[in-house]
Amino acid sequence: MRAFGTDHCASGSEKLCDFQSRGTRETIVLALQGLVAPPSMRLRLAETPDLPAISRLVQGLADFEKEPDAVNVTSEHYDLDGFRTHRPLFYCFLLETERNEKWFASGMAFCYVGQYYDTGRFLYLVDFFIEEPYRGNGAGKFVMGSLATVALNLGCSKMVWQALNWNTPALAFYNKIGANVVEGLLTARFKGDSLHALSTMWQKSDC
Ligand SMILES: CC(C)(COP(=O)(O)OP(=O)(O)OC[C@H]1O[C@@H](n2cnc3c(N)ncnc32)[C@H](O)[C@@H]1OP(=O)(O)O)[C@@H](O)C(=O)NCCC(=O)NCCS
Repeated sequence: MRAFGTDHCASGSEKLCDFQSRGTRETIVLALQGLVAPPSMRLRLAETPDLPAISRLVQGLADFEKEPDAVNVTSEHYDLDGFRTHRPLFYCFLLETERNEKWFASGMAFCYVGQYYDTGRFLYLVDFFIEEPYRGNGAGKFVMGSLATVALNLGCSKMVWQALNWNTPALAFYNKIGANVVEGLLTARFKGDSLHALSTMWQKSDC
């Protein structure tokens, strides 16, 4: 597993106040409105009615990552944590493609904002996926460029994500668009039972 980042100079400081007074969602919407999209493509924030499309795209990503049975997150989780709350844990971006004057979801990317000691605010990207028929015509570059604009408008000076080391097409794509591949950064994690085991080490016995 490798980590990547596009390092931009922090032009974000003057954006910080805007973002705090306006709120994250509105800042993102305004940033997206300022984009010039390629023909027949657009990117927007997902909402509750998009949940069936999101489920389809999430399953598409799991299939692509050779883990078709690994999807544990349900539409209710996405709705609760992302759409039906004033404090969303993530923002889901939907790529839409126009065919015969109808727009439909063809890709997705989930993002959230974090804080790191060297760069300050950063935009973290997960579950980036474009359905196969819609790849290869600049869609991925459009999404990444749009997210870079969103990141800067949120006062972030870094956009970062991870990729599986066997996913050579995605790695080639990231290299092609100029991302910085960070060597020597490993991912550590606790998951499932091991997370519970770690947690119980210091819990009072009556909790
Ligand atoms: C990775 C992905 C998002 C890229 O999107 P895309 O629409 O295929 O890529 P684009 O058409 O925007 O390509 C942008 C540039 O990268 C180049 N590129 C894309 N894939 C490439 C590849 N496999 N090898 C070399 N160059 C590649 C394109 O030629 C293009 O170059 P140009 O700007 O000079 O024309 C998309 O292929 C995808 O969803 N893949 C499956 C899921 C996945 O891997 N997600 C990422 C998980 S980390």
